[in-house]
Amino acid sequence: MSDKAIIQINAMTKVYDLGQVKVHALNGVDIDIREGSYVALMGPSGSGKSTLLNILGCLDRPTAGSYRLGGEDVSAMSDRQLSNIRGQRIGFIFQSYNLIPQLNVVENIHVPLFYQGKDIRTCYDHCARLAAKVGLSDRLDHRPMQLSGGQQQRVAVARSLVNNPLMVLADEPTGNLDSTTGEEILALLDELHADGRTIIIVTHDPKVAMRAQRVIHMKDGVVDREDFKTAPERVAAQSGHSGLLFKMILPGSLGPNVSPYGAGTTGAETEAS
Ligand SMILES: Nc1ncnc2c1ncn2[C@@H]1O[C@H](COP(=O)(O)OP(=O)(O)OP(=O)(O)O)[C@@H](O)[C@H]1O
Ligand SMILES: [Mg+2]
Repeated sequence: MSDKAIIQINAMTKVYDLGQVKVHALNGVDIDIREGSYVALMGPSGSGKSTLLNILGCLDRPTAGSYRLGGEDVSAMSDRQLSNIRGQRIGFIFQSYNLIPQLNVVENIHVPLFYQGKDIRTCYDHCARLAAKVGLSDRLDHRPMQLSGGQQQRVAVARSLVNNPLMVLADEPTGNLDSTTGEEILALLDELHADGRTIIIVTHDPKVAMRAQRVIHMKDGVVDREDFKTAPERVAAQSGHSGLLFKMILPGSLGPNVSPYGAGTTGAETEAS
């Protein structure tokens, strides 16, 4: 993680104007996010997480406040400039996959490049390699209906990478998946983070948020509080084990085969029982 801020937002508000009713979705948000960091956004339903993520991804504009992305003032940009930034720097993953039903796996991965005017014939190999990276090399011709939910989300992960983005934004990417399949998607996000990308994930699941370095809790359209995770806590979350197990394998601790609960009992078993 570098010291450089990739995201700087100040006094950001978002009001949805529905005519008679105005919905104040963001009420003054100030956040800096460092390049290469892994951040989770949590908070109750309606607290403004998706609204914030969509603005961070240049899919929407704030009503007021400033947004600098990679040092550039994004709030002042035209729609065309915003769409170029989205196309070149940002990857998106959504809870409901958002794949195009008529397109096969490779074609779905290609979609962001299509919007940049790049023909699939010139980038087929690149898209197929990304399909292979997410474990779908034997499903290239399948359409979304012919894939499981986890496979569809893997297509979405591959699609989010097709522009080699600096930043990947994921809105409840495991929300529709069982825990094992969700774990596979999270492992892919861990890899993207290890590659140096900035990851911002919205989640309701504290276990998912444990994998991030920093958790921003939203409430009523503002940042309520933040937590920073230690490396041991994150490693424990990634390996699916408890912090206790991690402590057991640290040098100078009790050692891998010795449990504080007595011979023959591992930390994991103790946690599960
Ligand atoms: N397009 C829209 N038009 C009007 N109001 C909206 C729109 N999108 C969101 N809102 C409102 O803005 C508020 C914040 O919504 P947002 O979708 O950001 O919440 P969230 O934290 O992502 O919730 P959830 O956890 O349920 O996904 C809510 O009160 C919501 O009803
Ligand atoms: Mg949401």
